[in-house]
Amino acid sequence: MLQAIKGMNDILPGEVALWQTIEETARAICEAYGYQEIRTPVLEKTELFARGVGESTDIVEKEMYSFVDRGGDNLSLRPEGTAGVVRALIEHKMHAADPEVRVYYIGPMYRRERPQKGRYRQFHQIGVEAFGIAAPEVDAELMAMLYQFLREIGLPDVVLDVNTLGDQSDRPRYLEALRAHFEQHRSELCEDCLRRIERAPLRLLDCKSERCHAVALAAPLVLDHLGPASREHFDGVRRALDRLQVPHRVNPRVVRGLDYYTRTVFEAVSTGLGSQNAICGGGRYDNLVEQLGGPALPAIGYAQGIERLVMLVADKLALRAPTAVALVPVASEQRAQALEIAALLRGRRIRCILDLAGRSVKAQLRRANRANAAFAVVLGEEEIRRGQVEIKPLVEGESAEQVAIASLVDRLTARCAERAAG
Ligand code: HAM
Repeated sequence: MLQAIKGMNDILPGEVALWQTIEETARAICEAYGYQEIRTPVLEKTELFARGVGESTDIVEKEMYSFVDRGGDNLSLRPEGTAGVVRALIEHKMHAADPEVRVYYIGPMYRRERPQKGRYRQFHQIGVEAFGIAAPEVDAELMAMLYQFLREIGLPDVVLDVNTLGDQSDRPRYLEALRAHFEQHRSELCEDCLRRIERAPLRLLDCKSERCHAVALAAPLVLDHLGPASREHFDGVRRALDRLQVPHRVNPRVVRGLDYYTRTVFEAVSTGLGSQNAICGGGRYDNLVEQLGGPALPAIGYAQGIERLVMLVADKLALRAPTAVALVPVASEQRAQALEIAALLRGRRIRCILDLAGRSVKAQLRRANRANAAFAVVLGEEEIRRGQVEIKPLVEGESAEQVAIASLVDRLTARCAERAAG
């Protein structure tokens, strides 16, 4: 039997309502904060991620789906969304008219990690990126937007862990302190970490091996190596977060697994997820646009994993099933008229189910109940002769009503609208 690729999931019709609710909530909130949607390709040149995400990150070293295409180009499925958005920003000079550019995206990302609960090889992110604003208030505004989203989908208890990674002027001192620390513990480190001490000592802080993790816990903190500008920025972010009443705590262990971050970084972690517990991660990346060949534009963003959100909100989000009408032709002679009424209702975007397979009335009503229809209308020879039908309630709280067939569509439209409003 042919099966889907390991770690790449089908999202079946029964699950999709939850996804849509999450995505619609995200869209509405992003738009309220002035973000516009951007859609970039899932395939990009491998070089973009190597230069953008970082040559020595786990993502680029081990997790990308990369291949040489028939024309000889080195391509990769995007492991994340930021690099592609920055490429598009530069390529289309999106900043030319106004350097303040705010975009969001929703789509699949690909990482060849070991699949487990909450960790997949194709997963989906809702991501946002804001360019052109250096002020600490935008960091707080972004986190307030994230918090509003989490609250609205039913996760008000998620706390944001915030930290700062300093900037170019603090970094060399801090990296030296890190190297010195890890050199003292060489015998306890895994091969990846040994290789990275010189080139990318920050990466040792998020190694997944237990022994390395223990060494990392004792490593010097970037908070103790900040210059005055970075400290001032971080204080500004925290003051604004307090003012906006966004629950957060400083967690010096948040270092992020991608190379582009400077200054503010943050993660939202949920206790309800087991080991893959990060639902969101992000931060500032003030140098990336310039590094990829664009102007010096400060930037900040985050992305959240939709699969993990779905796992957390599955029993919390009340999904309103759209009101449906079941038209029930008694025999094949009434089918054409039922189809015509259905077409009129569907033209008004009313979800309408109609049996075209010649089932019995009883079987049709059973299917209508299973489909959560609110009303059924039985169309038999007798009803059509009299020009009169009954709107039959299938759910509690609705009442029966006799109507002329001529006004059936209008009455059903009104009843469905009342139900949606109530
Ligand atoms: P990230 O921390 O690598 O950041 O991923 C963000 C979120 O994507 C994670 O918190 C998690 O919820 C979800 N995620 C990551 N990998 C997987 C996986 N294998 N399976 C399921 N979910 C996963 C980024 O991707 C950055 N581009 C975020 C960003 C945007 N920073 C600035 N702007």
